[in-house]
Amino acid sequence: MKTVVVTGATSGIGFAVAQAMLALGWRVLLVGHTLENGEKALGALCNAFPQGEMACFSGDLMQQREVHRVADELNAYLALHAQGRLEALVNNAGAVRTWYTTTQEGLEQQFALNHLAGFLLTHRLMPALRLGGGRMMLTSSASHKHCRVHFDDIMYRRRRYSALGAYKQSKLCNVMFAAAFNRRYAAEGLRAYAVDPGLVATDIGFKQTGGLVKLVWALRKAQGVPAERPARTFAALCAGEPEPAGLYWYDGHVARHDPHADRTADQDRLFALSEKLCGIASFGGNV
Ligand SMILES: NC(=O)c1ccc[n+]([C@@H]2O[C@H](COP(=O)([O-])OP(=O)(O)OC[C@H]3O[C@@H](n4cnc5c(N)ncnc54)[C@H](OP(=O)(O)O)[C@@H]3O)[C@@H](O)[C@H]2O)c1
Repeated sequence: MKTVVVTGATSGIGFAVAQAMLALGWRVLLVGHTLENGEKALGALCNAFPQGEMACFSGDLMQQREVHRVADELNAYLALHAQGRLEALVNNAGAVRTWYTTTQEGLEQQFALNHLAGFLLTHRLMPALRLGGGRMMLTSSASHKHCRVHFDDIMYRRRRYSALGAYKQSKLCNVMFAAAFNRRYAAEGLRAYAVDPGLVATDIGFKQTGGLVKLVWALRKAQGVPAERPARTFAALCAGEPEPAGLYWYDGHVARHDPHADRTADQDRLFALSEKLCGIASFGGNV
């Protein structure tokens, strides 16, 4: 049986991906934010897939020590139940913040969750991904287009905070990380994809956001597609044979990403900065 880890799996797109992968007969390891939401999601999935193999892990992935704890638990579970192998990792957990807010470790929250958490979790799961010839996905967004990574002040410490700007930058980082990952690890049989889910009717814009963002999101959500739609793309990328080609996917096909994400010097700069910010001596090396 193949195994997938899905973060942000207790609601929205991640929950729909978990459903789609259970329907394909995969073992699904859900990663949720809170224990309470994790138990609710696990209960609903157990009812829908009584024969399904699944387990839930919880942690605030904005905090790097929590990413490490969840990664330790996942690696222990994989060693016990899956010969240490992981066939797919979906880094999907994400958030929107209206105001400049930092994690307990002092990192800007959208950057910390939407980019660094996936970077660090992938690093920690690299031995399992290597054993499984794994595929890694990041939930990016069309909003990664027409923006730049502010290498001089990536966490908006000095520049005026822009909620949308920080979100767009984090989603550009997803595409750049996926591209950099492929340059480094495709030769080893590993593969990364960035997925644009489209506009999806989830509650993301209502969580820890201000009145204006909530209002705008209420209007946008009404135009959104159900989460099952992008989940089909993730399922095809996890399970498709032969291995799907292409970097950036939307609605079941390869789509155009911002060419800025292809600048290898910027990819490498982001990679090195992310290693530094996560305290990683060498990505994919000792975990
Ligand atoms: N909806 C869209 O139109 C759209 C478009 C483009 C990209 N995306 C991306 O899609 C991904 C999923 O979002 P969604 O729309 O499905 O919204 P969602 O239902 O709110 O999903 C986000 C998930 O991330 C989890 N999460 C939030 N903060 C977390 C934290 N600190 N630690 C661990 N987990 C945390 C949430 O858990 P809790 O609910 O328990 O906090 C939730 O399960 C995000 O990366 C988002 O940026 C969405």
